[in-house]
Amino acid sequence: MGSVSLQIGDGTARFRRATLCSSALHLLMLSSVITTNLFAFYAFTSSPSSSSAAAHARNISLISENVALIVREIEASERRLHQIERELAGYDTFDPAKSSLPPDLKLFLARHPLPLGRDARSGITEMVSSVAHSCARSPAADLLARYMSYEPAAPCPLDDPFLPQKLVAKACEPLPRRRCLSHSTATAAAPRLPFPQSLWSPGTKNPGAGIYGLDKQLWIKPRRKSDILIDDVLALGRGGIRIGFDIGGGAGNFAARMAERNVTVVTSTLEVGGKPMNEFIAARGLFPLLLSPSQRFPFIDSVFDLVHTMNALDEGGAPALGQASRTEALEFLMFDIDRVLRPGGFFWLDNYLCAGDERKRMVTRLIERLAYKKLKWAVEEKAEASGTEKAQQLYLSALLQKPARG
Ligand SMILES: *[C@@H]1O[C@H](CO)[C@@H](O)[C@H](O)[C@H]1NC(C)=O
Ligand SMILES: *[C@@H]1O[C@H](CO)[C@@H](O)[C@H](O)[C@H]1NC(C)=O
Repeated sequence: MGSVSLQIGDGTARFRRATLCSSALHLLMLSSVITTNLFAFYAFTSSPSSSSAAAHARNISLISENVALIVREIEASERRLHQIERELAGYDTFDPAKSSLPPDLKLFLARHPLPLGRDARSGITEMVSSVAHSCARSPAADLLARYMSYEPAAPCPLDDPFLPQKLVAKACEPLPRRRCLSHSTATAAAPRLPFPQSLWSPGTKNPGAGIYGLDKQLWIKPRRKSDILIDDVLALGRGGIRIGFDIGGGAGNFAARMAERNVTVVTSTLEVGGKPMNEFIAARGLFPLLLSPSQRFPFIDSVFDLVHTMNALDEGGAPALGQASRTEALEFLMFDIDRVLRPGGFFWLDNYLCAGDERKRMVTRLIERLAYKKLKWAVEEKAEASGTEKAQQLYLSALLQKPARG
C-alpha cells in the first residue's frame, strides 16, 4: 500500500503510506534521503584521478557508513512516529497491566487460556475479550472506568442511568460490564397480558410519543403524501415477507403491526433519553435489540425479507466519520442493510427527514448505485412553521427491492 522504496548503498529506506499528521515529516525525511543520495552520487563520480584508488575506496566506505547511519535514524524516527500515532488513536492505552484500570476491566481484557487447551479445529489457544478502541479515548475512557468500577457478583452500582447510553454514543460498544446483579424495575416484574393483547396493552408505562410510544395510526392511516402503508407493502411482497428488521424502531410499533400480520420483526432501539425502550418492546411480546446503527448488524448475510427504518440514516454509519454527514458514513450503514437483506427483499425507507435537497440527492445516488428497484418513491416538503431561511427539509419515503447479484 502506497510505499516508496529507495535503494541507498546497501540499505533500503522504506516509506510506508503516511497518515495526515506524519506525511509532512515523511516528506522531510524523503528530501533528506534524496539529498544524501545526490551527495553520494557526486562523491562516487567526481573523482578525476585513478592513482589514489585506495584513498578513494576509503572515502566511499566513509560515505556509505554515513548513509547507513542516516537510514537507521530515519527508521527509528518512523517507529517512534508510528507509536505516537497508535497512542493518539487509543490503540495501546488499554494495557491490562495498567494500574489505573478498574480490576474487572483488567480481568475482562486479560487473555485466558482455553480450559481444554488448544482447539484442534480452529487452532485457538486462548480466549480474547476486547473493547472498542474508541473506549480508550477521552472522555469515553473515564466513563468506561466509572462503568467498570463495581464489585463482582454483588448488585451492580446504581449509577447514572445515562452512562451506558453515553458510552454507546461514543462508539464504545459492546459494553463490557458482565459480572454484577442487575436491578430490575418494578415495571419489568409486573404481570403481562397474553399475546397478542400485549401488543397494545403491554402493562408498563408508555415511554414516549410518536414512534417512541404507543402509536395506533402509523402505517395504517396515511397522514401525509409520503406515507406508505403496511398492507400495500405486504401485498407487493406476495406472502414472501415473513421476517424483518426495524432499525431504530423506537417503541416497536412497526414490529407490533407486523406481528398482527404474522410477520416477525426484530426491533433495534436505544434507551433514548434514559427511557426503558427495550423493556417496553419486550413487554409487548416483541423482540428488542439494544444496538446502535453504527454497529455492524449481528446477522448473517441475506436473511431478511424486509428492512425498515425511519431515522437511522442520520444516526448510523461510522461515528469516526462525523455521524452520517459524509457519503462514506452513509455507506457504512446502507451497505450493511444491503448485506442482511436477501435478494428480492425490500428496503423500506420510511419518511426519512432529509436535512435538505443535497442530502436527498446523496441518498438517492447511493440507492441507485446499489441498483435497487424503486417500487414506491414519494417526497414531501416538510411544512415550515414560519418562513425561515433554513434549508427546506424533505420527507423521503421509498420502497426498494434488492436486486439479485451474481
Ligand atoms: C578523500 O577525501 C578527502 C577529504 O576528506 C579529500 O581531500 C581527498 O581528495 C579524497 N580522496 C579521493 C580519492 O577522493
Ligand atoms: C396469523 O396466523 C394465525 C395462525 O396461523 C391465523 O389464524 C391468522 O389468520 C393469521 N393472520 C393473518 C393476518 O394472516
